[in-house]
Amino acid sequence: PASARAGESVEQPWVIAHRGASAYAPENTLASIDKAARLGFSWVENDVQRTKDGTLVVLHDDSLARTTNVETVFPGRSPWKVKDFTAAEVARLDAGSWYGPAFTGTRVPTLDQYMRRVEHNHQKLLLEIKNPELYPGIERQTLKLLANDGWLDRQHLDDRLIVQSFSADSVRIVHDLKPGVRTAFLGKPSVAALGRYADFVDLINPRQNSLTAGYVSAVHAFTGPHGRPLEVAAWTVDDAATARTAARHGVDGVISNRPDVVRAALGAP
Ligand code: G3P
Ligand code: CA
Repeated sequence: PASARAGESVEQPWVIAHRGASAYAPENTLASIDKAARLGFSWVENDVQRTKDGTLVVLHDDSLARTTNVETVFPGRSPWKVKDFTAAEVARLDAGSWYGPAFTGTRVPTLDQYMRRVEHNHQKLLLEIKNPELYPGIERQTLKLLANDGWLDRQHLDDRLIVQSFSADSVRIVHDLKPGVRTAFLGKPSVAALGRYADFVDLINPRQNSLTAGYVSAVHAFTGPHGRPLEVAAWTVDDAATARTAARHGVDGVISNRPDVVRAALGAP
């Protein structure tokens, strides 16, 4: 939506469940996307890393320590980097008990397992390539997996998939390899730089607290690689007041750990 002046009605932003509905279930697990689905949210966000033997897995940190029991299962392998563990080792870890006993036994999903569940749930995915500097070739590998899982057909490309990264280089690689894939840059380029980003991104996704209505309008003035105005999805928006501020700024999407709270605040669909 165009930025609104005080008193004008605004189109409400669409809501994306960050790392799944991660305030209510362990982040980046199948449980967290199932929870998002039960709450009625189609769009989920995730983070992709890669194991020592080249399997793409869904995890936010480059270390397994915070969200799994790796320190117990593999003591002495500090700092427990994902890239130093095989997929079989990662599959042994519990990625739920840190969050709460109800989730004991939850696993770190491979990206392939995750995509199948997103598809099963009829959901849509904002996929983040995390730490691409650690994983040479991760962009091509991710696209190959998406293609194998049927996610690069017209229907998925049009409405069900966006690939994002904090690395502009990584996003550009994705765009160059598969120009039909919608992409987003995580961050807030200067207005002067937006024209360059518009060559290869469809969305600019900044931190909510870095945004102004003027910046959102400036982004909307550019046309992306698919012939539509660039959009803005802000993160992380977890409370009613912040959600209303984001909507007033005219953002198109908000990325939230508490999507139900945001929906209630905005009356968003
Ligand atoms: O999608 C936005 C957000 O996920 C970026 O930050 O650290 O949660 O991956 P982070
Ligand atoms: Ca993320």
